[in-house]
Amino acid sequence: MADRRRVVDRLPDFPWDRLAPHKQAAASHPGGIADLSVGTPVDPVPAQLRTALAEAADSPGYPTTHGTPALRDAAAAWLARRHGVTVDPAAVLPTIGSKELVAWLPTLLGLGPGDTVAHPELAYPTYDIGIRLAGATPVAADGLTALGPRRVPLVWVNSPANPTGRVLGADHLRKVVAWARERGAIVASDECYIDLGWDGAEPVSILHPDVCGGSHEGLLALHSLSKRSNLAGYRAAFVTGDPALVGELLAVRKHAGMIVPAPVQAAMRAALDDDGHTREQKERYGRRRTRLRAALEGAGWDISHSEAGLYLWAAHPAHADSWDAVAALASLGILVAPGDFYGPAGAGRVRVAFTATDERVDAAAERLAATAG
Ligand SMILES: Cc1ncc(COP(=O)(O)O)c(C=O)c1O
Repeated sequence: MADRRRVVDRLPDFPWDRLAPHKQAAASHPGGIADLSVGTPVDPVPAQLRTALAEAADSPGYPTTHGTPALRDAAAAWLARRHGVTVDPAAVLPTIGSKELVAWLPTLLGLGPGDTVAHPELAYPTYDIGIRLAGATPVAADGLTALGPRRVPLVWVNSPANPTGRVLGADHLRKVVAWARERGAIVASDECYIDLGWDGAEPVSILHPDVCGGSHEGLLALHSLSKRSNLAGYRAAFVTGDPALVGELLAVRKHAGMIVPAPVQAAMRAALDDDGHTREQKERYGRRRTRLRAALEGAGWDISHSEAGLYLWAAHPAHADSWDAVAALASLGILVAPGDFYGPAGAGRVRVAFTATDERVDAAAERLAATAG
């Protein structure tokens, strides 16, 4: 076979495999595992979204890559109504979940060897993967001044953040936009948790006029329906922002067949038209968050950030190492993710998802309470 440079060799091992022994340990708890390790929705897909999907089931023809006008209108109306952001529906582009675009954006934008792409120090691992897929160089940097004079054509931001739940304020985001505009860099803002602010936190979009001064030039915002509408299984997301960049992505994606299925587009439209189901789901998560947070704090855990999103970013004084903390919780049948999955700065902390059922969250809280002094 001819020599070839395998893409897989550019990528790290899948980190979740390292969690397997702890999963096994947690599963052997007599009360069963409370799996708080992944942020995957567990509540039903709202009935009206399933109806919209089913009603569009007779879809024999190819869907458009750009999405239906009804879907694009619904996305633009939702951004205006809920987030004070005005976009032209023509600048909305559906994606097959947002992970897909996170993984392919550097490639779709034409970045490659010689380009450096920045992502947050503590970050969802797929930013790094997407940069490597393109053959570009990833740099984990929160402070952009640390990047120095090198060529950085793309910067990722993620607010509210996975794993920390940290929300970047308009002032912070404004500085990122100004920095990027001075250098002609693109800012890609992953806003998949934007509807999930807690205790009064109100995450702001990079496309809000307070952040970008009313111009979307050089900016892309990624939105996902996975978490807010329990649609992770449908693969439903969209990107919007700079019309020229969105047009460029559309042109490439048309050629590449990166198309959201028509029934999923119909379900997305129904989801974006309705705020009721999102409110209900958020209330459900809010109750689970309060219960788990109190139980963790009662058992001596310190929670930092966590003002938005679906995770508690936790550390315990008795467990300086993330993996010790994971093991200690696994012995209670509670599985969490080690902080260093998300970057070296996460060492010593764990990420606790509150995406489990009420029953499993109660089980976890009771076990934690039993260890409280
Ligand atoms: C920060 C962040 N971005 C993107 C995604 C991907 O979401 P999806 O592909 O389901 O839209 C996730 C999923 O957990 C995430 O945490």
